[in-house]
Amino acid sequence: MSFPITRHRRLRGTAGIRGMVRETVLNVLDFIQPIFVTYGTGVKNEIGSMPGVYHFSLDTLKAEVDEIASLGIPAVLLFGIPETKDAIGSSGFAEDGIVQEATRLIKQWYPELLVVADTCLCEFTDHGHCGMVHTHTVDGVVHGDVINDASLELLTRTAVSQARAGADIIAPSNMMDGFVQAIRSGLDENGFEHVPIMSYSVKYASAFYGPFREAADSAPQFGNRKTYQMDPANLREAIREADSDVLEGADMLMVKPALAYLDVIRTIRDQFDLPLVAYNVSGEYSMVKAAAQQGWIDEQAVVLEMLTGMKRAGADIIITYFAKDAARWLRG
Ligand code: PBG
Repeated sequence: MSFPITRHRRLRGTAGIRGMVRETVLNVLDFIQPIFVTYGTGVKNEIGSMPGVYHFSLDTLKAEVDEIASLGIPAVLLFGIPETKDAIGSSGFAEDGIVQEATRLIKQWYPELLVVADTCLCEFTDHGHCGMVHTHTVDGVVHGDVINDASLELLTRTAVSQARAGADIIAPSNMMDGFVQAIRSGLDENGFEHVPIMSYSVKYASAFYGPFREAADSAPQFGNRKTYQMDPANLREAIREADSDVLEGADMLMVKPALAYLDVIRTIRDQFDLPLVAYNVSGEYSMVKAAAQQGWIDEQAVVLEMLTGMKRAGADIIITYFAKDAARWLRG
């Protein structure tokens, strides 16, 4: 009788030995919890397509932030739903805008908790695009596209107002060309040279953002985002995007979404040395929630497996709506 030469099962026999040879370990210090803030009082409304995720008004926000901080999660990512929207998204860069107000409060409550500000205009524009648009109407149908360079100026104002309110990290998600350079100069000119930029370098035009657009009320009113967000089919282009962000002064790179783009995460990790962020987006969250509610999957096991996969693919940091749950589960 012949025996197998190699017995891989020797290192799988007990929890103790599996733990000892484990290559990838999730850590609560890697998580960023997104939060949606809105106007009003006493608001804590669950988002229909994202069970367990809420809109908070400034007066209900404290309890949520208390919980995040007590779990040891080091950072939050803020999204704002403004009272009014207009063509240029001016409530996105108002000194008393909802994100700015929430930032000031959180920094007052928890000076050590990192506030990451998503720098984009789609939540604040009435047309739902990520910058200023040119439109024309043909047979009653509106067509239009985002004007790159004019939008850079508005996005820079947004980033500077977020930094002024106390944001620790600026995370531009708008996918205009030159946005890192524009925002870096704006921050530097205004005395925020120490504030890092976490660039959404590689952001695909993805159907996985669907639930977020309900949550942020930011679905484009005409057209789509394919003229500025990337084609899901492209990988080499991701390297070009990341390359220009590095040259323009980005401090961290991001790949978004995560689950269907693990090869992109791996490629960016192998080609660049900057800290790499994976965004486990809204649609990835909602799919898991829906299947778990049906009793079709084990939510905890699936979530930890997904997050481990993102880290194994090369992500250092994960933005996830599961951050609080995962932090709890990791504590055992
Ligand atoms: C803003 C922005 C979006 C997301 C993060 N920042 C939406 C979009 O580009 O349409 C998506 C996040 C998610 O789906 O969880 N531009």
